[in-house]
Amino acid sequence: MVKVVVSFKFFDKWISFLKESGFEVVYWGSEYPPSKDWIKDNVRDAEGLLCSLVNRIDREVIDSAERLKVISTFSVGYDHIDVGYAKQKGIRIGYTPEVLTDATADLAFGLLLAAARRIAEGDRLIREGKWNKPWTPDFMLGSMVYGKTLGIVGMGRIGRALISRAKGFGMRVVYYSRHRKEVEAEYMSLEDLLRVSDFVIIAVDLNESTFHMVNEEFLRKMKRSAYLINISRGKVVDEEALVKALREGLIAGAALDVFEEEPLPQDSPLIGLQNVVLTPHLGSATTETREKMAETAVFNLIKGIRGEPMVYEV
Ligand code: DGY
Repeated sequence: MVKVVVSFKFFDKWISFLKESGFEVVYWGSEYPPSKDWIKDNVRDAEGLLCSLVNRIDREVIDSAERLKVISTFSVGYDHIDVGYAKQKGIRIGYTPEVLTDATADLAFGLLLAAARRIAEGDRLIREGKWNKPWTPDFMLGSMVYGKTLGIVGMGRIGRALISRAKGFGMRVVYYSRHRKEVEAEYMSLEDLLRVSDFVIIAVDLNESTFHMVNEEFLRKMKRSAYLINISRGKVVDEEALVKALREGLIAGAALDVFEEEPLPQDSPLIGLQNVVLTPHLGSATTETREKMAETAVFNLIKGIRGEPMVYEV
């Protein structure tokens, strides 16, 4: 029997599907990720590994696998996998782009609106029993979204999906990416984008060149009235620099779905700031999207083992 390892808490339905498809499945069912040793021990004689962003698949794990043909990740991001090394060893990598583009772009807009219009802050105020004064014209004023300028950093699938949403809000859309793309948005240097944008959405992959791309210098170049939204990976933002910028009023606010460390530690200074909206890595978290991601990840795994073209291969 061909052995596959599933190293994160997955859907029972798809575990059963793999078993019914004739695979021997070693499944880590807990929401707390397994140790590296557990993965190493179990992947030794497996042909497929189905993992997620909670698993670090580094050289050591890859070296322990003697028969591995495919690593299929239940995510669009693959910064948790040493892709170069895996490929060097002839291991194919599957991932789940496209199926989560709309859900993630929707959340980015939700965060943008929540930050600009102080939605989460207003919700907190009511729940804490602090809505105790009559309506006044200057109460909890936020920033207009309609007609403002949106700067998108990174123009992949999610960047494109952001453009169509922004058009609905009558926004001018500018973008920066390593390469110019055929899109309905103005291309500009990062410096110019930061100078003109009222909202900056980070939609780049995490890699060596984007690690801490949003640092003090980046934040200083933004308008003082602007908002930063991050739906990519936490490590693209230097959180310490961001906290300082939010405290000192270098920017008006931020909205973050991803963090340098996840779950966000309870003592993170971000938690004490009112001008930041925080969500727990919910970009692709819709029932429909997660189902499509599961199907894609499982078929990538099976097709990779069989030597067939995958649904999406890195
Ligand atoms: C991904 O897929 O990389 C997201 O961060 C989680 O869906």
